[in-house]
Amino acid sequence: MTQPYEIDELISAKSIAARIEELCAEIRTEFSGTDKLVVVGLLRGSFVFIADLVRELDLPIEVDFLEASSYGDSTQSSREVRILKDLRGAIEGRDVLVVEDIVDTGHTLKYLIGMLESHNPASVKTCALVRKAERAEVDVHVDYLGFDIPDKWVVGYGLDYAEQNRTLPYIGVVAPND
Ligand code: PRP
Repeated sequence: MTQPYEIDELISAKSIAARIEELCAEIRTEFSGTDKLVVVGLLRGSFVFIADLVRELDLPIEVDFLEASSYGDSTQSSREVRILKDLRGAIEGRDVLVVEDIVDTGHTLKYLIGMLESHNPASVKTCALVRKAERAEVDVHVDYLGFDIPDKWVVGYGLDYAEQNRTLPYIGVVAPND
């Protein structure tokens, strides 16, 4: 079946790879002296990004995953986040780097930082591939950011539209067919 929309490339696979190299150089500088780093990917969207990030990073890290589900009206600041899959390992006393595919309103990342901090890690830092600054509803700091993007529906490189298009090697904007 033909999908009822086109996808216009926004960020090429080559640009993503180049930006990941830059981010990893920064992350390596910060964490090369520690053997405690746990890189936590947020499912599902971050699965492609984290796979490329940790291989480029080339540090002795551990990888863990969380899955969160947001629900309710995303325009409301009371938006709630639920944990669907918790961490497998303990993070007390560990340095943690949370990896998100996209920061939209910021509620998910803000909630996760609070949840992780309640487990008494040594530190919590954040990394996101893309951020829609125009959509921010809460103040949440991204320590390592790939790209600021416009307020468009984006797919590819882990990001989906109704669970489709996650496997595209680039990030594209969904454009309805005429
Ligand atoms: C996306 C994305 C973030 C969240 C960001 O997840 O992966 O986790 O939305 O939105 P926010 O900044 O407004 O909180 P989604 O619910 O689409 O699930 P998915 O990762 O499984 O695609």
